[in-house]
Amino acid sequence: MDDQANPNDRILARRGAERWVFLIEALRDFRTTGAVAPSSRRLAALLTDPVREQAGRPLNILEVGAGTGSVTRALIPLVASGSRLDVVEANPRFAAGLRHLVRTHPHPAAAHRVRVHEKLIERHRPDHRYDVIVSGLPFTNFAPEQVRAIMDRYLELLHPGGALTYFTYLATGPARRLLGSRSDVSRHWAVERVLTDFQRRHATGRWTVWGNVPPTAVWQLRTPLPSTAPRPLPARAGASR
Ligand SMILES: C[S@@+](CC[C@H](N)C(=O)[O-])C[C@H]1O[C@@H](n2cnc3c(N)ncnc32)[C@H](O)[C@@H]1O
Repeated sequence: MDDQANPNDRILARRGAERWVFLIEALRDFRTTGAVAPSSRRLAALLTDPVREQAGRPLNILEVGAGTGSVTRALIPLVASGSRLDVVEANPRFAAGLRHLVRTHPHPAAAHRVRVHEKLIERHRPDHRYDVIVSGLPFTNFAPEQVRAIMDRYLELLHPGGALTYFTYLATGPARRLLGSRSDVSRHWAVERVLTDFQRRHATGRWTVWGNVPPTAVWQLRTPLPSTAPRPLPARAGASR
């Protein structure tokens, strides 16, 4: 790229390149990539809200399924002194791009407080728990047992009172009914039922991001604090932002 280009041009060129990388990986393996474009900035902002709400506090943060890093980029400036961000990404090409992002990011947090782990989340065995987990996994492409195992693992990995955010694309159910096989449609609804079960027990918020491609529901779940009952969904749940 031209070193003389102004910063806006460079950001636009980078985003364009990332969209291509994402699309190529989606064509290579749609089941694990789960989308044809990276998350929008609005979606990244909502997913990272629980970290922003505790700005300045030392936090252990886990991001899972980071792709080309649109959410990682929103997280890095929020990684305060004494905090760490573990980024788990299974696709080796995405993981290489994420390591490059961390190496070259101008924020001082990146070099010292962010680690990229190239592996499946199912194989991640940290020696500590997390305050916030941000999941970018395309759950509705997975088997229901895999989704239940990953959600259980997330809740185990969180401190009491810790927050999990994740998203599901809104159009995937109807699209599968139109285009998918019967077994794919029933697998999809089984995954929805697994997620609904976790939402009933732990959800503290849900938002819709219409401007994302495709439109997306963002969920926030919390693990209970000792001696407190799970908090019900607040009135704002279901609101669009
Ligand atoms: C829908 S993309 C999300 C990318 C990015 N977070 C975003 O919002 O633009 C899903 C990502 O999860 C990764 N992934 C899928 N299954 C995984 C697993 N079991 N463990 C870790 N990463 C996984 C994929 O390689 C892909 O990068």
